[in-house]
Amino acid sequence: MRQLLDGLGAHARRLSSTTLPALIAADPARAHEFALRSGPLYANFARQRYDRAALDALFAIAERAELGDAMQQLLGGDTVNHTEGRAALHGALRGTTARSAFALAARAQAVSAQLRMRELIDALAATRVTDIVSVGIGGSDLGPRLIVDALAQPDARFRVHFISNVDGNAARRVLAGLDPARTAGIVISKTFGTQETLLNGGILRDWLGDDTRLHAVSTNAQRVAEFGIPPERTLPMWDWVGGRYSLWSAVGFPIALALGMERFEALLAGAAALDAHALEAPLRQNIAVWHALTAVWNRNGLHAATQAVLPYDDRLKLLPSYLQQLVMESLGKRVRLDGSEVELETVPVWWGGAGTDTQHSFFQALHQGTQIVPADFIGVRQADHPHAANHAALLANLLAQTEALANGQDSDDPHRRYPGGRPSTLLLLDALTPETLGMLIALYEHSVYLQSVLWGINAFDQFGVELGKQVANRLLPALRGETEAGDPVTRALLAELRD
Ligand code: F6P
Repeated sequence: MRQLLDGLGAHARRLSSTTLPALIAADPARAHEFALRSGPLYANFARQRYDRAALDALFAIAERAELGDAMQQLLGGDTVNHTEGRAALHGALRGTTARSAFALAARAQAVSAQLRMRELIDALAATRVTDIVSVGIGGSDLGPRLIVDALAQPDARFRVHFISNVDGNAARRVLAGLDPARTAGIVISKTFGTQETLLNGGILRDWLGDDTRLHAVSTNAQRVAEFGIPPERTLPMWDWVGGRYSLWSAVGFPIALALGMERFEALLAGAAALDAHALEAPLRQNIAVWHALTAVWNRNGLHAATQAVLPYDDRLKLLPSYLQQLVMESLGKRVRLDGSEVELETVPVWWGGAGTDTQHSFFQALHQGTQIVPADFIGVRQADHPHAANHAALLANLLAQTEALANGQDSDDPHRRYPGGRPSTLLLLDALTPETLGMLIALYEHSVYLQSVLWGINAFDQFGVELGKQVANRLLPALRGETEAGDPVTRALLAELRD
């Protein structure tokens, strides 16, 4: 695989003397033929810096890597998280259970958790509660926060708020506007051992006073009970769901409260539709495969150090931070499954923000900076507001940026010259609904997994985040002045903070 991926360099060198507009001019059919559709999700890869020969090489890699089988293994509940000996069955949470008894058993657990979720929502709806505060961090926060921000309606039965950061300002600011007597809480933590969540959960429990309105979502029922939340208000999680893949589980309880259970189920159905596409579509017609191969091309062929994600829909402005965890916690790895060095570049830095705001902040660097940044542009065809002129302007800007970045513009004045050659993918949703957002997120999940297969790394562990937590635990008593800890620089800094 390493040699095949290295072989991409030869195609990149061959294409380096050609411009992106020249590639498209030489093969205008690619505007349609490098595009795919799955229901309401359309993807166009024509503005990527590859030609048909480079694509052939990429699809040969996909075949050699048996990406079709890899999808079967993931969704069938095989042990794909080898370092922790676990499956990664987020597919089963939305009803996708490729052929295995283990996946079917997981599905049964997921369905029973959804029934309990519905009962708890009905019980809360029968009370005076108007607001919900959800405490969690990382995968226990980013997904629900994204979906609620994107899809909650102003007339929803419950307003849902989120606290994640251990900075006490996060809790102070959220709770300041709320009435404890009309608020219910949810503490979400797969492990129920995360420092930030336990501290913020404690603040929430004390603030609520009456803890009969406090709920939990976790794999660790014992720790939840010790925290003071009884089993009847605890929803389950399982080892076979990764935190950053968990919004489809009871971790999505805040979503179901904000959107209602029917729209939560529609979100799952959208993801299931994309699962079916990723499982069944032949490699060349498979959007997840194209997306993953494009990522590998940009990283290993063109050596792009970063990747932008640019949703042109204000409701998706949290998508870049959600994807930062999904992609970088999954693919930020430097050893293969057998422990040997990868020797290839793995994940680039993912970053981004919503257009058109970002056009007035960092787009200068995208157009004229020295680094070429491949970008995923995401658009929504149908506006869900009455401001038709704004929507037309939004879509015109979206199209304009992809064209301007790709084609550039010459000038005698070097300061006014746009070099072009900046590649992008366009992902277009017919409308922003629970179904289409479910599809979009599932697309990224599967692309990430397929990239991990191509690189031979584990997409489902995250040991890299542990060291910092351990050091912080050692330094906490030192910060209070109870012990001495840290290297000479840390000791000097501790002295600054303590004085
Ligand atoms: O620190 C990283 C991490 O382990 C993520 O993978 C996870 O989503 C997050 O912390 C929160 O973990 P938990 O749900 O166990 O509180």
